Amino acid sequence: MFEAEPPTVKQLALTGSLPTDTAIGQTLTDVHLRYSDLDDGEVADYIPILAEADPAWFGLSLVEATGDVHEAGDSAIGFSIQSISKAFVFALVCHARSHEYVHERIGVNNTGLAYNSVMAIELNHGSPMNSMVNAGAIATTALIPGQTPAEKWENIRTGLSQFAGRQLELDGRVYHSESTTNQRNKALARLLESYGRIITDPLDTVDIYTRQCSLTVTARDLAIMGATLADGGVNPLTKQRVVSAEVARDTLALLASCGMYENSGEWLFEIGLPAKSGVSGGIVAIAPGKGALGTFSPRLDTAGNSVRGQRACFHVSRALGMNLFASTPAR
Ligand code: DON
Repeated sequence: MFEAEPPTVKQLALTGSLPTDTAIGQTLTDVHLRYSDLDDGEVADYIPILAEADPAWFGLSLVEATGDVHEAGDSAIGFSIQSISKAFVFALVCHARSHEYVHERIGVNNTGLAYNSVMAIELNHGSPMNSMVNAGAIATTALIPGQTPAEKWENIRTGLSQFAGRQLELDGRVYHSESTTNQRNKALARLLESYGRIITDPLDTVDIYTRQCSLTVTARDLAIMGATLADGGVNPLTKQRVVSAEVARDTLALLASCGMYENSGEWLFEIGLPAKSGVSGGIVAIAPGKGALGTFSPRLDTAGNSVRGQRACFHVSRALGMNLFASTPAR
């Protein structure tokens, strides 16, 4: 789906820092214009309320690790964070537990299967495999500190709000819509329970997971949350340390291998950045040490990733030299 050599994209190979403010602002404006008419893909409807999204919405924001913010289009429209929450809940759990604990309890390898796959659990002897697919995300949410479901939920909300640098609010309509249609997630949690792979009540845990997916964010919030991971775990706007530099590193490693589900290899090959997508149309793509791009557009491909968002990340990554793997000879 990606053009081999898009004609107007300069392929920079920057290692240290992003280009000037003007180049970033211009790139976002160009990309917004370039992909606004692209109407491939479908708006998700398996969570009924998501089908109400306007397919024309398209927002971009790039936040630098220095704290500079750039935006284009619908960057202030709110939408539910959905699966993108998994990346930040994973970081909170790594911070509260340890690198080894999460590695052993959940795993860090791609399933090669869809994000809601039951078969992936069966094929892997009950292992949820990684924290980015639904089964692994539910098992990860179970590991959030807290004596009660209410305490766990509050810890998630507070932690994700620290990543965003503002208090994130639960969208009650999204929460209700998903709560009444999430039988598959409940089945995944029960299956994990049968394998002894979930340490708290499965249905309570799915409820907390559904809440975390229902938090409202904007493309700008996503870029700030991602920029916190790009900035060694410190929010570049509030200057608050949210997680350690090691946790930020581990989270980005997991996003590189699993963030775009079974398409993670193709994504890394084309875009070269750790990233996470959500079924309401958001994507966050992170360039360690440089910053993060947040995109929002509700039409999705068959893997559940925003079509315009993927194109935008491809274009911005190339134009601004964000690809992790690009280099030029030292002399
Ligand atoms: O659990 C679910 O199915 C949704 N709350 C989140 C799925 C999601 O965002 C998949 N991403 N592309």
